[in-house]
Amino acid sequence: MLVNLNEVLSYTKVKKFGVGMFNGLSADFYEGVIDAAEQLRCPIIIGVADRFVDRLDFEMIAEVMIFLAKRASVPVCVHLDHAKSLKNIMRAIKAGFTSVMFDGSSLQFEENIKRTKEIVEIAHSVGVSVEGELGVVGRGDFDFKNPEFYTKPNEAEEFAQKTNVDALAVSIGTVHGVYKGKPKLDFERLSEIRKRVDCYLVLHGGSGLSDEDFKKCIEYGINKVNIFTDLTLAVNAQLPEFIKQTEDLTPAIFEKIREIVKQEAIKKLKIFGSYNII
Ligand code: 13P
Repeated sequence: MLVNLNEVLSYTKVKKFGVGMFNGLSADFYEGVIDAAEQLRCPIIIGVADRFVDRLDFEMIAEVMIFLAKRASVPVCVHLDHAKSLKNIMRAIKAGFTSVMFDGSSLQFEENIKRTKEIVEIAHSVGVSVEGELGVVGRGDFDFKNPEFYTKPNEAEEFAQKTNVDALAVSIGTVHGVYKGKPKLDFERLSEIRKRVDCYLVLHGGSGLSDEDFKKCIEYGINKVNIFTDLTLAVNAQLPEFIKQTEDLTPAIFEKIREIVKQEAIKKLKIFGSYNII
């Protein structure tokens, strides 16, 4: 069943666990993620990253995502990740997405508030949820010494109040993609943000974190955990060997991608405590 971000995250108020948000690229990815959620009986979020909107046939993939969400036997939210323009947010809303992220993290604080607030007003008027971002979740390297990289708890409080976002992505030491070195997360900062902010909190750059890190993040207040790279790494690692061995190549490849994604999503969801919820 298709639901918005608020509805899908509301389950974390009843039991402490992390809802998985898995970005994908094709129907096989989304089927694999939903198979995992149906097997574990948990709510789930399927997403597409803004940087792929122009590379994929967005309106086509949106139809597929929404069809799969409606057909699922568990609550599924369909989310646009890291949108930087109102144009793509409007495309997603028009296509039937139930959640959009406006990533204004590269803007000045006041400008980020202003733009995010405008988007919240538009999206909420049609029942679509909004995620905002404060601080920098980069790619590859985290600059631990630069205070500007981290989300400041006092700013998070002001941002959440003024924008009325449903969820806030925070920067506590994670990065997107493959980590260079061992990640070192600032749990004290996370717990301070949690104390000051009422909306749901989001962890970006989940791939590559340890089980312990995930569990601590959820314990300290994260409600939504984003994963993409680990799905692609699992496909990259397992598909070439499979292709060498199989004869029924073309149909089998698509089934195999779905299965690899399903197993990787199950592994993550179990760590997040995301099972037996529905
Ligand atoms: P990873 O690709 O590092 O898992 O990050 C996913 C993410 O945060 C998408 O917004």
